[in-house]
Amino acid sequence: MTTDDRSLVAHLVGADVLVCCGSGGVGKTTVAAALGLQAAQLGRRAVVVTIDPAKRLADALGVPGGLSNEPVQLQVPGDGELWALMLDTATTFDGLVRANAADPDQAERILANGFYRNVAGSLSGTQEYMAAERLHALHLDPRFDLVIVDTPPTRNALDFLDAPGTIARFIDHPLFKLLMMPTRRGLKVLNVAAQPVLRTIGKVVGGDVLADAVAFFQAFAGMETGFRQRADDVMELLHSDVSKFVLVASPRADTIEEACYFAGRLAEGDLEVAAVVVNRCTPTFGEPPPRRPRGAAAPLYDNLIELRTAAATERQQAAALLEATGVPADVHTSWVPMLSEDVHTLDALEAIRVRLFD
Ligand SMILES: Nc1ncnc2c1ncn2[C@@H]1O[C@H](COP(=O)(O)OP(=O)(O)OP(=O)(O)O)[C@@H](O)[C@H]1O
Ligand SMILES: [Mg+2]
Repeated sequence: MTTDDRSLVAHLVGADVLVCCGSGGVGKTTVAAALGLQAAQLGRRAVVVTIDPAKRLADALGVPGGLSNEPVQLQVPGDGELWALMLDTATTFDGLVRANAADPDQAERILANGFYRNVAGSLSGTQEYMAAERLHALHLDPRFDLVIVDTPPTRNALDFLDAPGTIARFIDHPLFKLLMMPTRRGLKVLNVAAQPVLRTIGKVVGGDVLADAVAFFQAFAGMETGFRQRADDVMELLHSDVSKFVLVASPRADTIEEACYFAGRLAEGDLEVAAVVVNRCTPTFGEPPPRRPRGAAAPLYDNLIELRTAAATERQQAAALLEATGVPADVHTSWVPMLSEDVHTLDALEAIRVRLFD
């Protein structure tokens, strides 16, 4: 096991947050789950959170009933703990409203509001923003000391990094201020709808939707400061030394090019790749005997040599590609072979963990 302070093990021991990113199907979920398994063996209390609505994490962890928005603890070896959850945007939003409303009345007004029920959860950015909020809450949750984030299979997977900035810009937006203002001045909803800019919006989206939206923002008044504060806190957390980004790729040119995209996306946000996992590599079997045997063993020997050559070439090519794509050459890289079966049980996941770390 590598003990270099930039190794995956070092990150598992030292980090508070690990984010697994990479292109679709490369093994982000599998790696996130295997990191959780290793963290528990290292004595940490880890929680793996998936933003991906597909049931892949439950699959990788061998949880037949699936996962929910609340963390469930898994029975795994080690002195630590492993928990897992699947983010549900709407439930998380409801929870936030309840936790942050000044009183139960304010919470109920928001939760019952038509705009909130039908629109707020599906507004672009809400899912990403809720992921950021959830990260904030899990990080502060005394049950856990490591949060491992499994990102969804899209190029926008890292949009949750923008979410805190987006909410800040939204709250600072003049329109938002305008919508919030009337309650503060004790005016009525109708007066707001009489504002020229809102009248125009009302014509486009419909008067009822607008009235609901206005009522929603008015009910929300007072809570925006907390939202803003948490958004800033998450940004700070992600940029601090306790957060590390693990880039997952497979040893094919196209997925490594995608990895480059993710590395670039992180760099844009002043973040860097802390470790790379190249998953589904051609396995390298043991050392071949010194001489080619005769008889029936000869084709096996040839096969072994062929596989070893393929594996070595793959490593060279992948390493060269990674270096050429903006991931610094000194970033720790782990190589995980392609197993004969998909990873749908804790035993199979253990096989990935062993290859990742031992
Ligand atoms: N090293 C491996 N050997 C064999 N099967 C693997 C390996 N790594 C992952 N798999 C399998 O490949 C499939 C995709 O892996 P996984 O779901 O982890 O990828 P992902 O990057 O999270 O995908 P998505 O982008 O769709 O979320 C799964 O069925 C998983 O069990
Ligand atoms: Mg996945």
